[in-house]
Amino acid sequence: METIILWVDAEQPDEVLIVRAAQAIRAGQPVAFPTETVYGLGADATNPVAVGRIFAAKDRPANDPLIVHIAAPEQITVVTGRDWDDLPAAARALAGAFWPGPLTLVLPKGPVIPANVTAGLNTVAVRLPAHPVARALITAAGVPLAAPSANRFGTTSPTAAHFVLEDLQGRIPLILDAGPCPVGIESTIVDVTVTPPRILRFGGVPAEQIEAVVRGPVERQERQHAAANHAAPAPGMLSSHYAPRAALLLFDGADPARLWAHIREIVAERAATGTHVGVLAPSEYAPGVRDAGALVVDLGPLGDDTTAARRLFAGLRGLDDAGAEIIIAAFAPGDGLGPALRDRLWRAAGGQVITVGGADGASS
Ligand code: TXA
Ligand code: MG
Repeated sequence: METIILWVDAEQPDEVLIVRAAQAIRAGQPVAFPTETVYGLGADATNPVAVGRIFAAKDRPANDPLIVHIAAPEQITVVTGRDWDDLPAAARALAGAFWPGPLTLVLPKGPVIPANVTAGLNTVAVRLPAHPVARALITAAGVPLAAPSANRFGTTSPTAAHFVLEDLQGRIPLILDAGPCPVGIESTIVDVTVTPPRILRFGGVPAEQIEAVVRGPVERQERQHAAANHAAPAPGMLSSHYAPRAALLLFDGADPARLWAHIREIVAERAATGTHVGVLAPSEYAPGVRDAGALVVDLGPLGDDTTAARRLFAGLRGLDDAGAEIIIAAFAPGDGLGPALRDRLWRAAGGQVITVGGADGASS
């Protein structure tokens, strides 16, 4: 299969191109398209054959359910088989506050959605994305789109069209390319079918903003594992998710100056033996590790999590593509997008963290 890339304007997508992509969707084909978080691989969420093609293209296990994307709040009826009035109050409050945007709600599933979308669960994850291309495509298709991130299973989510091509060339017919994704990490997933609501995945909407809108307790926990072999509440919670090809060494430490001095030493040692070392570094420490011999992706100033989120996945893929044999990164503290960033790094590192601190500078 030949994969065609169509360039579309991110703000004002060409209607002819959107109609062409919508025709492919209506014919049961999967189409990669941009959202504000990451690129998705969309298919008609009401057609089990079309949905099956998403799993095949991604090599995604059938027990990992998909998010259903809608373009207007009224489409909630198609997906859940219910009116807004019959959905949990937390769902109405959260959708009102954060849709369109990087928030996914887990809701009761309606009969129109086939079982392979939800991996047999009786709940369905729903999101109303903000990206004009995503919304135009869903509207033109006239059906909700089941869409996971447009990468091969287990690799990092693609934040630009060339990363989609890298993973799915020859496996899908069409990619809509609208440039890089403005958020850069996936949506926050909140299960509102349970009381209190539970954050299943940290993402583009900070947890404290969810709590402020729910106006009550919200369950959340950093660094959760889930078993690989059943439809867990959020199978994206596998600790081997988002892995780059290079080995990722992930560091943590309370004192950034000491942490980055230590990383700089490690870079110098590895570089001296001829190893190609890639580093994801905050702007403050980027020149130091570059001088020590690393290929560096600047994640923006310490504390600027919006910039770090936008650059994280592209940074991991870019360093991989540039031939890095090991990639070094570090946790940054804080709320906001902090938990989401730490979550992605932690999973990319297979759950291994090296803590730098104490009197002698390093320990694990
Ligand atoms: O930002 C995003 O959410 C992107 C864009 C394309 O919208 N999508 C995305 O999809 O990240 P994906 O498939 O890579 O991750 C979806 C996650 C999976 O971990 C899946 O297990 C979880 O959503 N999920 C889907 N349906 C669920 C359900 N009924 N209950 C709990 N978790 C669910
Ligand atoms: Mg994914």
